[in-house]
Amino acid sequence: MKPGLRVALLGCGVVGTEVVRLLNEQADDLAARVGAPLELAGIAVRRPDRVRAGVDPELLTTDAQVLVTRDDVDIVIEVIGGIEPARTLMLEAMKTGKSVITANKALLAEDGATLFAAAREYGADLYYEASVAGAIPLLRPLRESLVGDHIHRVLGIVNGTTNYILDQMDTHGAGFNDALEEAQALGYAEADPTADVEGFDAAAKAAILAQLAFHTPVTAADVHREGITEVSAADVAGAQGMDCVVKLLAICERIPSQDGRNGRGVSVRVYPAMIPRSHPLASVREAYNAVFVEAESAGSLMFYGAGAGGAPTASAILGDLVAVARNVVGGTPGPVEVTYAKLPVLPMGETVTRYYIQVDVTDEAGVLATVAEEFARHGVSIQAVRQVGSGEEAQLVVVTHRAPDAALSATVEGLRGLEIVREVTSVMRVEGDE
Ligand SMILES: NC(=O)c1ccc[n+]([C@@H]2O[C@H](COP(=O)([O-])OP(=O)(O)OC[C@H]3O[C@@H](n4cnc5c(N)ncnc54)[C@H](OP(=O)(O)O)[C@@H]3O)[C@@H](O)[C@H]2O)c1
Repeated sequence: MKPGLRVALLGCGVVGTEVVRLLNEQADDLAARVGAPLELAGIAVRRPDRVRAGVDPELLTTDAQVLVTRDDVDIVIEVIGGIEPARTLMLEAMKTGKSVITANKALLAEDGATLFAAAREYGADLYYEASVAGAIPLLRPLRESLVGDHIHRVLGIVNGTTNYILDQMDTHGAGFNDALEEAQALGYAEADPTADVEGFDAAAKAAILAQLAFHTPVTAADVHREGITEVSAADVAGAQGMDCVVKLLAICERIPSQDGRNGRGVSVRVYPAMIPRSHPLASVREAYNAVFVEAESAGSLMFYGAGAGGAPTASAILGDLVAVARNVVGGTPGPVEVTYAKLPVLPMGETVTRYYIQVDVTDEAGVLATVAEEFARHGVSIQAVRQVGSGEEAQLVVVTHRAPDAALSATVEGLRGLEIVREVTSVMRVEGDE
């Protein structure tokens, strides 16, 4: 057995505590798998006096900066979260010869390029499986197993909180606010749920997935983002009428072009959309996550499991730790991110999607023709129209064929301006059925 590898842990909260537990409980197995024992060299926290079950208080320090640059540390695990001081600490660690493991999706999606450049410059490993979809092995399959294939699309439910809320709305007919309150009471949603319900968390994950899938630089700011706060019970009921379910989807898509295999660009977006109940993602219930990958040769692949939580996230971190430790023992660094393709991220208006639109119209002759004309005016072709209710209660439901999003949203604006339209009661994109 080789000499021990020393691990510095930055952060000891929900995830960090579980990392410590697994490192202690599985020490012998981990040593056998790596070929060298793994030892905790120190744990950086903000409040050292806080009691932490299973954590040796002797290891705690408030000086993360000193910890990451110590000569006797080989590998750094960052589970503090946020942009700073996490970024500076990881850069310092790599600069002083350490490999780094992180679960920090916010930082990777905002400034991953700086971290990857540092990893390349200093010959360090930078592994981040836990940053997207918790326990689900997803980034390593994209980064390694599928790196010889040509990925067309990644379509996923990557935020458990919003999936729980939408699932409650679908199952019990709950409104958004009631479902959110329940999610908060059960600990699925934070007291401030903005990052989840407004789609920021999913957008960060979409950026990381798109970058890996298409070998192209994508940041969170490039991602078109819509949250679920506007999803109403009427939208959910409308989806049920179409044998669909509403899910918050992260979609990373290569947009084909006539002449180039790589495509014209990529579309990266997060929004609530209807998907058919027959689609594998429709059966993802409660706070679970799942990601559907469509690759040219591999075909369709589905990754499913617990997307968050201390132990599931720590499992992904331990997987990275063993991989990185093996690389250190063997003296060969792991794969480095390459974004050679440099495909542009296309604006949302150019993305081709389908819309479901429900309109409350006046009860008079010729209404259907006037509505159809508005779609035609914007070059949007209608796949199906039906009437729900009757008389004064009548509403028209229109489902379109695929069209550029700009044309679809212009159609909705046009409908709002028609005298015969009292209200556009529901607008939702339809995904996953072509
Ligand atoms: N929770 C999940 O289910 C989950 C899932 C996937 C990914 N992640 C990611 O994992 C990371 C950690 O999440 P978490 O839920 O474990 O967070 P958390 O419970 O809030 O823990 C954060 C830890 O960082 C420490 N800390 C904060 N600022 C610090 C500083 N300046 N110097 C040293 N330590 C500092 C805190 O110390 P004190 O304990 O003293 O306050 C705490 O131990 C985040 O990037 C998150 O996005 C979390």
